[in-house]
Amino acid sequence: ASAASTTVRNQSFSSINSDDISYFKKILGERGVVQEEEKLDDANTDWMRKYKGSSKLMLQPRSTEEVSRILHYCNSRCLAVVPQGGNTGLVGGSVPVFDEVIINVSSMNNILTFDKDSGIMVCEAGCILENLISFLDNEGYIMPLDLGAKGSCQIGGNVSTNAGGLRLIRYGSLHGSVLGLEAVLANGTVLDMLGTLRKDNTGYDLKHLFIGSEGSLGIITKVSILTPPRLSSVNLAFLACKDYTSCQKLLSEAKRKLGEILSAFEFLDIKAMDLVLKHLDGLRDPLPSSMHNFYILIETTGSSESHDNLSNCYFESVPFSHITREKLEAFLLESMESGLVTDGALAQDINQASSFWRIREGVPEALMKAGAVYKYDLSLPPEKMYDLVEEMRERLGDAANVVAYGHLGDGNLHLNISTQQYNNSILSKIEPFVYEWTSKQRGSISAEHGLGLMKADKIHYSKSAETVQLMAAIKRLLDPNGILNPYKVLPMSVLSQIGG
Ligand code: FAD
Ligand code: MLT
Ligand code: ZN
Repeated sequence: ASAASTTVRNQSFSSINSDDISYFKKILGERGVVQEEEKLDDANTDWMRKYKGSSKLMLQPRSTEEVSRILHYCNSRCLAVVPQGGNTGLVGGSVPVFDEVIINVSSMNNILTFDKDSGIMVCEAGCILENLISFLDNEGYIMPLDLGAKGSCQIGGNVSTNAGGLRLIRYGSLHGSVLGLEAVLANGTVLDMLGTLRKDNTGYDLKHLFIGSEGSLGIITKVSILTPPRLSSVNLAFLACKDYTSCQKLLSEAKRKLGEILSAFEFLDIKAMDLVLKHLDGLRDPLPSSMHNFYILIETTGSSESHDNLSNCYFESVPFSHITREKLEAFLLESMESGLVTDGALAQDINQASSFWRIREGVPEALMKAGAVYKYDLSLPPEKMYDLVEEMRERLGDAANVVAYGHLGDGNLHLNISTQQYNNSILSKIEPFVYEWTSKQRGSISAEHGLGLMKADKIHYSKSAETVQLMAAIKRLLDPNGILNPYKVLPMSVLSQIGG
């Protein structure tokens, strides 16, 4: 049975009453206290429509002070809360399990400062990722992270999940790019760690506790982030490989030969490609001449003085350049001659580049359209990664469509099992097999999506008992009543001392 159906409400939490509502209205005004059924229905339901809570209240603070007052009150009343950003999370972390109060920070969406020399931006947690990308594009900078959910996800959500995405191979994780943050603890204490320094070794670097803690330790209200300059030459190739070993060899070659200009190395298998072409409108196979088993996207980003004209460009303001393009072209030619790549296309303009990206970024949406999906987000040694996919196909036979894609350049496999409906007999063939397999490889059962509700009680497959105990002790210290995002991230059995 799923995590949602086996979880029991913690009876030490209070339920909302009319005095609570009056108090919140006093702090936030009418507009910040949402009780309309339709809005609550959206906020109670996750992106996959797999997890659904029954919260009767969503609060929309507009300042850190409001967040602080809300949490102070909820803590004193023992009211459980769930922090919510864009609600695009894929592990059931962003929606209530029962009647937790939803604290949605979307109204905190201002860019506070941007330093044009250093590229350091300070903004509020509710800024939508795509808006930050556009803002920076105008300033000649880019965000160090990009992901398919950019139109809805928020920087606070990104930092809380330590989202990886499509460019991690080049710019590293948010543990590197986030220079500081402001967070509010369960009791309302505001922690100002909003530094803008590249280097600061004064004591423990506590901001890292909040990066990737999925709203279980505090609510992030502001973020300071180092953004790289936008370079003048971006190119994208869409390639086909005959087998998985070729994909893997191509990755080693790309790291060696494209080195500093490599900015994405993504893969999808034929099952993922078929789904996208079947379920998403207006997409064409860029390599239609024959069937291929695997597809790879390679993006390069470099600086160059030589410019083409503006009509032939990838981003509107970024011209293609001959020099880095030549480097990629030479690499592709070599890879075709050696047989690693069997077919390929280089994006000729911004429209073609976006349609190539749309194929890769569209896989999660295509899976949703195909029916029910069991999602696994694994870090595995790249040479072993596809063995798991093949074993899973053998286990499930015709009962399900086993689909693989992901951030191959980062050793991150998205193994997705698509079926008509959720079904316990299929689930029992997938789990715990998938977690045991990953654990044996010393892989991670959550490479980038987090644990949320889905994998809270699976943490031991990737972390030792001592490590989990220490995590629980930190949780207890920061949130003694356990009001912040209960039932998520850590197993209830380990957290049982918390509450009441
Ligand atoms: P939400 O979904 O609202 O919340 C996610 C978690 O963070 C929850 O536990 C929530 O409680 C907590 N949270 C949110 N805001 C705050 C805050 N201000 N303070 C404290 N806690 C908070 N993820 C990747 O890593 N890489 C990808 O490539 C990627 N691609 C995706 C593509 C699609 C189409 C979709 C639907 C999702 C994708 N995701 C990906 C997953 C998801 O988008 C990311 O995890 C994203 O960072 C979540 O941001 P959000 O604002 O939607 O957060
Ligand atoms: C992706 O890389 O497309 C995302 O992480 C979403 C997913 O895994 O489905
Ligand atoms: Zn991903």
